[in-house]
Amino acid sequence: MPNFDAAVEAIHQRGYFVGEGFWPMPEALAMQQACEQLKAEERFRPACIGRSTGQHRHEEVRSDLIYWLENDLPTPLQNYLDALEAYRQQVNRELMLGLDHVEVHAAFYPPGARYAKHFDRFRDDDARTLTAILYLNSDWSETDGGLLTIDLPDGSEAKVLPKLGTFVSFLSADFAHEVHPTTRDRLTLTGWYRRRGGLF
Ligand code: OGA
Ligand code: MN
Repeated sequence: MPNFDAAVEAIHQRGYFVGEGFWPMPEALAMQQACEQLKAEERFRPACIGRSTGQHRHEEVRSDLIYWLENDLPTPLQNYLDALEAYRQQVNRELMLGLDHVEVHAAFYPPGARYAKHFDRFRDDDARTLTAILYLNSDWSETDGGLLTIDLPDGSEAKVLPKLGTFVSFLSADFAHEVHPTTRDRLTLTGWYRRRGGLF
């Protein structure tokens, strides 16, 4: 697993982190292969917007296929959850965010898919606190589209190509972001750390 020091420091200083080539390449490749395998087995499902009662598909807003990382995972994906647990503990120790657990899905965007500008913290659920995304796409270039843009406080944008091994993390309530239309299959592991329920 990577050393998370630079990510934790950036979250502390600016609220977001973008690390190209951050994840050890053999681990990222193994995760990519595990996801491709699950995809081939048709274990991915259409994504929904919002939670429970509000759930329905909005193709114009979101058209990805997802697979929640839960039980009986292939080893590379279990290793990813273990690494995110180490990140959680370090963030709690150094930044005292009180993160309780992470929920993670693999997301597969087919050509033409996008995700309109949004915040990760739902209006009816303020527990999502920290977002963590790992990109799993080999040989990505700008002409492939699928850019992640993150709105920054100074009015500029951070632009992220979804390249294998790039890790992104930001405070879920603070950064609007958008996935631009992709022209190629685009695979990610996207996770959100939640605080303990209730008021805080
Ligand atoms: C999300 C999201 C970003 C990406 O799933 O909420 O913003 O680059 N994903 O896939
Ligand atoms: Mn998001």
